[in-house]
Amino acid sequence: MSDPVLVCAKVKKSYVIPGESGAAGRLEVLKGIDFEVRAGETLAIMGRSGGGKSTLLSCISGLDVIDSGEIRLMGQNLSALDANSLNAFRASRIGIVFQQFQLLDHFTALENVRLPLDLAGVSPEKADQVALEKLERVGLAGRESHFPDRMSRGECQRVAIARVLAMGVPVIYADEPTGSLDVKTGKVVMDLLFTSAKESGAALVLVTHDPLLAKRCDRILRIEDGLLKEGPLELTSELGV
Ligand SMILES: Nc1ncnc2c1ncn2[C@@H]1O[C@H](COP(=O)(O)OP(=O)(O)OP(=O)(O)O)[C@@H](O)[C@H]1O
Ligand SMILES: [Mg+2]
Repeated sequence: MSDPVLVCAKVKKSYVIPGESGAAGRLEVLKGIDFEVRAGETLAIMGRSGGGKSTLLSCISGLDVIDSGEIRLMGQNLSALDANSLNAFRASRIGIVFQQFQLLDHFTALENVRLPLDLAGVSPEKADQVALEKLERVGLAGRESHFPDRMSRGECQRVAIARVLAMGVPVIYADEPTGSLDVKTGKVVMDLLFTSAKESGAALVLVTHDPLLAKRCDRILRIEDGLLKEGPLELTSELGV
C-alpha cells in the first residue's frame, strides 16, 4: 500500500477560555487524535457541532498550532517548519474549502480562483484559462466578474471549491462543502470534487454532517469527546440523547 500522505499522531489542541481577569482555563478540544490518510483516499469526519472538526482541519493544515503530538504531511513534520516555509509548503500541497469560504471580498470570482495560481507563478493567460474552466465546471460560467458580496452563499461555496480544484494539489480538505448548497447542486459539486480527486490521485478529507455524503467516502471517522472513533455518528449521539 502507498505511504500515507497525512499522519496525525497523538494530536492535542486546546484553546484559552478568556475570563474577566485573564485566562479562566483551557478548553481541551482535541485530546489525542490518531489517524492516517493515503494518496487517493477519501475520508469523512463527522461529529457534533462544536466537537472539534474545524479545529482538526486547521491543525492538519498547519493553520493552527497544536499543543502536542505530531502532524506529518507527505513526510514533513509541520511543527518543524518556520512560518515562511510552512506557508510555501502548504500552498503547493493543500487546498482547503473553508466552512466560511474565506474568499477575498475585493477580488472577483475569477480573481479569487486565480489567486493561488498567480502566487505559484503560473502565467496570467494560463491562470485565466484554468480559473475560467473551473468556474464553468462548478456552474458559475458568466459569474467571473462578480464580487463575493454580490453572490449567494451557495455561489461563494462553489467559488471556494473551484479555487481548490484550480490548485491541483495532492491533499484537499473541505469543511462542510455542501453546507450552503441545495441537494442537486450539492451532488453536482461533490461529484466534481470526488472525480477531480480520483483523477489526480489527491487525498480528500471532508467534514460533513450529511450521512449520505459521508457514505460516499472510503472511510468515516467521528470526533467524540476529543477523540476519533471509526464509523458514522449515531443519530442518538448527534441529538445528544
Ligand atoms: N480560536 C478559538 N478560541 C477559542 N475557542 C475556540 C476557537 N476555535 C474554536 N473554539 C472552540 O472549540 C470548539 C470546537 O470548535 P470547532 O469549530 O472545531 O467545532 P466543529 O466541530 O467544527 O463545529 P461545527 O459542526 O459547528 O462547525 C468549540 O467549542 C469552539 O467554541
Ligand atoms: Mg466546523
